[in-house]
Amino acid sequence: MAEKWNIDDLTVGATMETTFLTNPVETSSFRFRATHLDGRRAPKVVLCDDPRISPGRPCIVRITAVRKPKRADRGAIEVEFVQNLDLQLKGVWLDPIASKKLQILLESGLNILLDGPQGCGKTVLAKSIAETLGMEFVYFNCGAVVEATDFLATIQVRASDNGQPVTEFVKTSVLESFEQAGDEPKKRYLVFLDELNRCPESARNALMPALDTTRKVFHPIENHFLNIPDNVQFIAAVNRGNEFSATFGIDAAQLDRFAPLQMTYMPPTQEVKLLHERHPELSKALVTRIVKVADAVRKSPELTGGLSVRATEEACIYLKHPLMEKAQRRLLPEVLQSSFCGRFAGRWDDTTTDAGTVWTVINQVLREEKKK
Ligand SMILES: Nc1ncnc2c1ncn2[C@@H]1O[C@H](COP(=O)(O)OP(=O)(O)O)[C@@H](O)[C@H]1O
Ligand SMILES: [Mg+2]
Repeated sequence: MAEKWNIDDLTVGATMETTFLTNPVETSSFRFRATHLDGRRAPKVVLCDDPRISPGRPCIVRITAVRKPKRADRGAIEVEFVQNLDLQLKGVWLDPIASKKLQILLESGLNILLDGPQGCGKTVLAKSIAETLGMEFVYFNCGAVVEATDFLATIQVRASDNGQPVTEFVKTSVLESFEQAGDEPKKRYLVFLDELNRCPESARNALMPALDTTRKVFHPIENHFLNIPDNVQFIAAVNRGNEFSATFGIDAAQLDRFAPLQMTYMPPTQEVKLLHERHPELSKALVTRIVKVADAVRKSPELTGGLSVRATEEACIYLKHPLMEKAQRRLLPEVLQSSFCGRFAGRWDDTTTDAGTVWTVINQVLREEKKK
């Protein structure tokens, strides 16, 4: 850990890297506040009010004044904005072009639609954005929505004191965040609408005014229109072409409310790196083999659904377990049979099904690997 800065080493005119968040002090004339300079803790808060700053995004600043240098409990380091640096998302891999696009969309406040196969990192990406940018993350699973009102409230039945059933509305996380955002204008809320394509179109339609410039929804409990505050941003995720479960096509007018961002599986070398870091007990050669098979399954022209990174991770969890670690090579095919074939329709031993096709691919790749 780098040490805290000594106040005497922070001179006016020095340029340094920092990351601002929104200044929680409401009365301050500086909108942005940081705590570190060049990765080391600053002895006083770092303040700036330049509108080009995006909270959570690293930038270069120049020190313009050090206020009350002698007082440990007061003062501030005032800086001027020099330039923005790239957004560094923690714990998620995103291809560099998509990363740039994402940064621009986030800055412009547009609704974002993450479009990619299952298990390619849509949910971790949304979470990481919220964490990096200091936003409140609001998760909502659209797969559970049946009717339009389900986005905002659910009806629950409970027993009253006299034993009679009473029905009541319970607010969803989405409705709660709209209300809270109004009360907390300094906080920012990232509402993640997961599996947006899995709810019925009629229900989705009811959400559309929330997503366009109207930004209004009907409050089903209080029976009035509710304005969605500006400090709420939406990200939705869809998994198009998932043959496995019931999916609803999203119509063009609905799609048009979002800026689509296509995602794919991370490259094999990245996936090996990620899995090897998470499961260092396994040899890199074994992890590489698992990922190689997964890559072949994903690229197979006969298969439409994707193969989640959850599947390769599951194989790692099996193989590092004491019950398996002594016979990893021998057990690898069995593990992939359940973790990979099991995620597709049909059975591994029925070559007319997707699961059977996956089993063929697994054997081909493992045979080639053996020859080497
Ligand atoms: N690009 C990525 N970066 C980091 N982790 C990833 C990535 N893609 C997948 N994963 C890992 O795979 C798992 C599934 O990712 P998730 O975000 O839930 O997928 P999705 O929402 O697209 O179905 C998680 O454990 C996640 O850590
Ligand atoms: Mg997800």
